[in-house]
Amino acid sequence: MRGSFVTVEGCEGSGKSTQIRLLSEKLAADGVDFLVTREPGGSDVAEQIRSIILDGKNSAMCDECEALLYAAARVQHLKEIVEPALEKGKLVICDRYVDSSLAYQGAARGLGYGYVETINAYALEKCPPDLTLFLNISPKAAFERKHGADKDDRIESLGLAFHEKVYKGYLGLLDKYPRICAVECGGSKWETNERIYLLLKEKGIIK
Ligand code: TYD
Repeated sequence: MRGSFVTVEGCEGSGKSTQIRLLSEKLAADGVDFLVTREPGGSDVAEQIRSIILDGKNSAMCDECEALLYAAARVQHLKEIVEPALEKGKLVICDRYVDSSLAYQGAARGLGYGYVETINAYALEKCPPDLTLFLNISPKAAFERKHGADKDDRIESLGLAFHEKVYKGYLGLLDKYPRICAVECGGSKWETNERIYLLLKEKGIIK
């Protein structure tokens, strides 16, 4: 049987990596056959595209080029890593996916959801997530928790106003795509993780 595909989304510093790590520990203890991967990247070719996109020296990159590179890395990663794992029946957990493009390039860069949906047709039609967890914490709260942004990262260093637009972009997706569940992150990381674990059970992703 085909496995389940779960994606994790949120603004910079929303705690995706920590939550994925804590969830992995629980899944391993439960004996679940799962794979954790990330975007942009997750395969050799896609990681090379990632380094071009995020390189602080590439300030000349236009918004369309950026969106197309994310989409290119995504299809490569899907075909090489995600789809074969799903076919083997694994639960695939991906740190960021197409909703990052909708929020960052579609909303914050201003290309629009429609443009981003068009160039990501493969991901949206052939491999839509079964569940998307949106870690719901505002960029201001996230940056305060993280003590500032990474200045060498072309996207992360864009400033609070940009990241507020990203956040609004995510909120705009909640009604449009019912597969996206907002996870409140107000409490401790353990509380957030318990919420995520219960959500996976509730949605029938794990037993
Ligand atoms: P990364 O260091 O993985 O950031 P994070 O730990 O916050 O996930 O870098 C990925 C960056 O790329 C991040 O700033 C979000 C951005 N991004 C997009 O703008 N569009 C996309 O489609 C994806 C997948 C990521």
